[in-house]
Amino acid sequence: MNAPTDISPQDGLALEAIMAFWADAGVETAYDDAPVDRLAVPVPPRPAPSRPTAPVALAKAGAADPAVAVAEARALAAACADLGALAAAIAIFDGCPLKGMGARQAVFSRGRPDAPLMIIGEGPGAEEDTLGQPFVGRSGRLLDRMLAAAGLADQVFISNTVFWRPPGNRTPGPDEQRVCAPFVERAFALVRPRAVLLLGAAAARSVLRVEEGVMKLRGHWHHWRPLESAIEAPVMTTLHPAFLLRQPQAKGAVWADLLEVAARLDAAP
Ligand code: URA
Repeated sequence: MNAPTDISPQDGLALEAIMAFWADAGVETAYDDAPVDRLAVPVPPRPAPSRPTAPVALAKAGAADPAVAVAEARALAAACADLGALAAAIAIFDGCPLKGMGARQAVFSRGRPDAPLMIIGEGPGAEEDTLGQPFVGRSGRLLDRMLAAAGLADQVFISNTVFWRPPGNRTPGPDEQRVCAPFVERAFALVRPRAVLLLGAAAARSVLRVEEGVMKLRGHWHHWRPLESAIEAPVMTTLHPAFLLRQPQAKGAVWADLLEVAARLDAAP
């Protein structure tokens, strides 16, 4: 289809306004599940295969069987002797469907490699996707301020449940998190933190494998010992800083959770 050339100034302004509306709503990309070759000569549609070879959601995302991808991730992660090797392994890993959905790069971690506190968020947003580091946007700036106020600024290693930005900043799906989990678990084993802080319900679902609401989980200690791991640590869940940007009155609860974490780290190991 040719682009219309007879747009009136009013139509142009209306178009700009609606694009700004969608951008404000977080919609920054518009594409189909598969790339469209607009130069291709149309061919008559082929009859559909009688039996799909992969679950529809995964086939749409162009991903392999998640169990195979998880096994591949686990093998790759297990072979990494340090965080640098782990970052390189994540960057070449193609098993997460999110990688093919418009993300610019893998976003793995920032912070101390021997941090006493490991923080796990949901997944990279737009600024993280651009800069290649987790929590460097508005949520990250709020998180950093709260960590500094609690005396935890230089005590943390920060990562996410997935390493590629979900399109439109949607919540990562369980299969996307499952495929990335072996890398998160390996990071945990390499850092050996004395405590873990989960930010938001999606992080709690991925790490603790629970479906309870974050309001119920927050403020209580849980325990994390990943499958096939000799490393374990106490885990606190709190509200995601993006939620605090929308609901600042909830900051008190997060502050209480951070103080609880700080007290635990201060106590003898
Ligand atoms: N939100 C997250 O959960 N992680 C980031 O890295 C940034 C925003």
